[in-house]
Amino acid sequence: MALLEVRNLSVGIRRNNESLPALSGIDFDIEAGEITGLAGESGCGKTLTALSILRLLPKAAEIAGGSIMFNPGPDEKGRDLLSLEEAELCRIRGKDISMIFQEPRQSLNPLLRIGAQIGETLKLHGLGDKQAREAALDLLEKLGLPEPEKVFSAYPHQISGGMCQRVMIAIAAICRPRLLIADEPSTALDQASQSQILALLQQINRDFGASILFISHDLSLVRRFCRRFLVMYAGRIVEKGPAETLFSAPAHPYTRGLIGAIPNRERRGRPLANISGRVPSIEDRLPGCPFAPRCPRSGEKCLAALPPETDLGGGRLVRCVMAGKND
Ligand SMILES: Nc1ncnc2c1ncn2[C@@H]1O[C@H](COP(=O)(O)OP(=O)(O)OP(=O)(O)O)[C@@H](O)[C@H]1O
Ligand SMILES: [Mg+2]
Repeated sequence: MALLEVRNLSVGIRRNNESLPALSGIDFDIEAGEITGLAGESGCGKTLTALSILRLLPKAAEIAGGSIMFNPGPDEKGRDLLSLEEAELCRIRGKDISMIFQEPRQSLNPLLRIGAQIGETLKLHGLGDKQAREAALDLLEKLGLPEPEKVFSAYPHQISGGMCQRVMIAIAAICRPRLLIADEPSTALDQASQSQILALLQQINRDFGASILFISHDLSLVRRFCRRFLVMYAGRIVEKGPAETLFSAPAHPYTRGLIGAIPNRERRGRPLANISGRVPSIEDRLPGCPFAPRCPRSGEKCLAALPPETDLGGGRLVRCVMAGKND
């Protein structure tokens, strides 16, 4: 049994009295202790997928179907996060499952010192003032943040963006969650801060055994960092499996296109091998393969109906009629 089992998740966006399909039939597992990457171009539905897990969707969005089983371990019964009462969900948020966002400054309260913000989560989950302070300082130190005392008593505007994000990660990690969702955690940061963020996430995965759902546009990061890889296109998972296999032998033309767009040393100075066109908006989703209009190999069959999921073995699944016949 995986730690998280997402099954047939669909999310609609309400617009002019109709519900438009933002996510359709999403299926994936997150194994305990593993880092799973989720990638796809802007507007594919990565953030909505992450927010569905915590049931923190924007007002316009609604869960249209599916289940998200959270299975914390052999001693605790698995629960469907989509059918939990709000009070029970509040106990899970921050404690068992926590999330960090792209813009760290927006997630921190500008009027509160960093230490107070870290301690707040601990107090919410039952620690006293003194214990919370000690645990917060201890964590900052363990996570290798320089001058933890100084960071502890600073206001958010007094520290750098990279440091803010490291503080956010500390807040997310403080209750030792089973799952940490990191939505583009380093996109807004410079290269050096980006490396520190990744190292910090790796440390949390290694030392605390937390699973991580790592959402990123940047496939070179997914490749470096993730054991499993989910490729999303227009509200669907089009390919998933062990990251190593997907990177060495991508089966879906979209995965191939994304990987082909990663800049590398040999290609430096030459135009990127890229995919033309763009992700269809949720008003323009077709009944067939969503990628067909942009796919270099699509035929009539692709436009007629959604390709079934094909099992290529070794934990790899792909939605493409050409699957297994591509090479
Ligand atoms: N608050 C919202 N109101 C209306 N539509 C929304 C909202 N949030 C998302 N959507 C719709 O859902 C689609 C998927 O959005 P989502 O934010 O999940 O994409 P994403 O893959 O995270 O993109 P990005 O890489 O830019 O962060 C969007 O293209 C948009 O049509
Ligand atoms: Mg997003």
